[in-house]
Amino acid sequence: MPIERTFAIIKPDAVAAGNAGKILAMIEAAGFRIVAMRKEHLTRPVAEGFYAVHKGKGFFAELVDFMTEAPVVLLALEREDAIAKWREVMGATNPENAEEGTIRKLFGTNIGRNASHGSDGPETAAFELSWFFSGCELQ
Ligand code: RTP
Ligand code: MG
Repeated sequence: MPIERTFAIIKPDAVAAGNAGKILAMIEAAGFRIVAMRKEHLTRPVAEGFYAVHKGKGFFAELVDFMTEAPVVLLALEREDAIAKWREVMGATNPENAEEGTIRKLFGTNIGRNASHGSDGPETAAFELSWFFSGCELQ
């Protein structure tokens, strides 16, 4: 498996609950290198552009409200097979269906407020990394 990069967010619910540090420890324990990291309170245009692929879906407004309600932690992560591995560490979108020990099982509340985000493929990862980080930050 080649070394790969993915984009992750520790979502507002997890940051506000004081779980960011625990999630960062899980990221490192799972063998990821933290390439870049920034705490930021997303504005509506930034969140809407990031989630443009979901525009028109029933949960879009709720998703943007949630993602802009409080600060998040933005991350560029690197390891072998990073995209799939990070989604495995996060668990299923709905915490109810997530495996024991995953981030969403441990720290998520429901399908909307689910503690973390991860890119779902190489093209999405490239777009999402470039949406939040410039080249010189990704070293
Ligand atoms: P993410 O993009 O955040 O990593 O999550 P995902 O791939 O597992 O799920 P996706 O389908 O891309 O949905 C993006 C985020 O939208 C919220 N959502 N709410 N209320 C609902 O039915 C619903 N469905 C999705 C979640 O916060 C989900 O992570
Ligand atoms: Mg997604």
